[in-house]
Amino acid sequence: MIYNNLNLIDLNDYPVSWWEKLLTLAHEIISDPSKYSKACEGKIMGTLFYEPSTRTQMSFQTAMLRLGGTIIGFDNPATSSVAKGENLKDTTKIVSGYADVVVMRHPTAGSVKAAALTADCPVINAGDGGHLHPTQTLTDLLTLKEEKGHLDNMTIGFCGDLKNGRTVHSLIKAMTCYKNNKFVLISTPELCLPTYIKDVLSAGGHTFTEVTDLDSAITDLDVLYMTRIQRERFSSAEEYEKQKGSYILDCSKMAHAKGDLVVLHPLPRVDEIAIEVDDDPRAMYFKQAKYGMYIRMALILTVLKNSDKPAALITGSEHIHQQCSNPKCITHQEAYLPHYFRGEGTTLECEYCDERTLVK
Ligand code: NCD
Repeated sequence: MIYNNLNLIDLNDYPVSWWEKLLTLAHEIISDPSKYSKACEGKIMGTLFYEPSTRTQMSFQTAMLRLGGTIIGFDNPATSSVAKGENLKDTTKIVSGYADVVVMRHPTAGSVKAAALTADCPVINAGDGGHLHPTQTLTDLLTLKEEKGHLDNMTIGFCGDLKNGRTVHSLIKAMTCYKNNKFVLISTPELCLPTYIKDVLSAGGHTFTEVTDLDSAITDLDVLYMTRIQRERFSSAEEYEKQKGSYILDCSKMAHAKGDLVVLHPLPRVDEIAIEVDDDPRAMYFKQAKYGMYIRMALILTVLKNSDKPAALITGSEHIHQQCSNPKCITHQEAYLPHYFRGEGTTLECEYCDERTLVK
């Protein structure tokens, strides 16, 4: 086992009771934000965004400013030493020596865990490639808790790019921890959920169906989580063009949905939700973005308070000669990284990107 700081790489590294504590704290902040306006005075947050972002980066920055702290960082690696060829390890080592907490977004799966291995302060995953996005999941959980009042006993539809949508992966993993949730996976066959996430559903005995038609699926849903087709994660423009516009939620589809449906979307939206839906009281995505700021305030406070037990960063062991089979894994870009895997026998799980690899 390797431990270091109170990082947040994958929400499932922590028990549900820890998530609940954050949701409760966020609720308290919403009811009296001024009480927390000096809570992080003198503290510095570093935001290292190697990939574009509006909501995640700005909600983290606003969260820290509303707590009385200050921020440093970059949102364009081309203007930092990354452009000179600096590796992830060195950049993180330096910034984590300046800041009290580092928030990182990166285009490669497993990158934030890799960075956390050598960081001198807590590191928060703000999205690592098509892998995970735990703080969006905290945002989604807070929205559902506040708007629906519970996180169990729901039929949740996920629609769009389930293959590349990291917010989908993280939220499904989280919702399997609450009782009696059913999952309806709505996508084209090409953009279906990765096997390792389906394995999480199967292993827990959760009911899930895979369908291609949103029109017929919408009637049973309590929650509909729409996502955009993730153009930047396709291998070619032609592949993207084939999938573009596959699903569009409009008022005619909403007419068949339950009266208390909650429509979520991590945003940004491209064309998958028609603008006309914005005025439907069941459209919760703009409110959801605001909840994101409050849950990030709760997270920053918790991490900086540093009184909780950190999750283990690495639970497996090093396999020097084994390569991860996922070409999009950070271990293929940062050659110095130790090859950590979980499990034993013929199949190993990469500690960075969670993909399965057959032993050579
Ligand atoms: C999401 C992301 O970056 O994964 N956006 C966000 O953080 N709110 C979803 C997306 O980009 O489609």
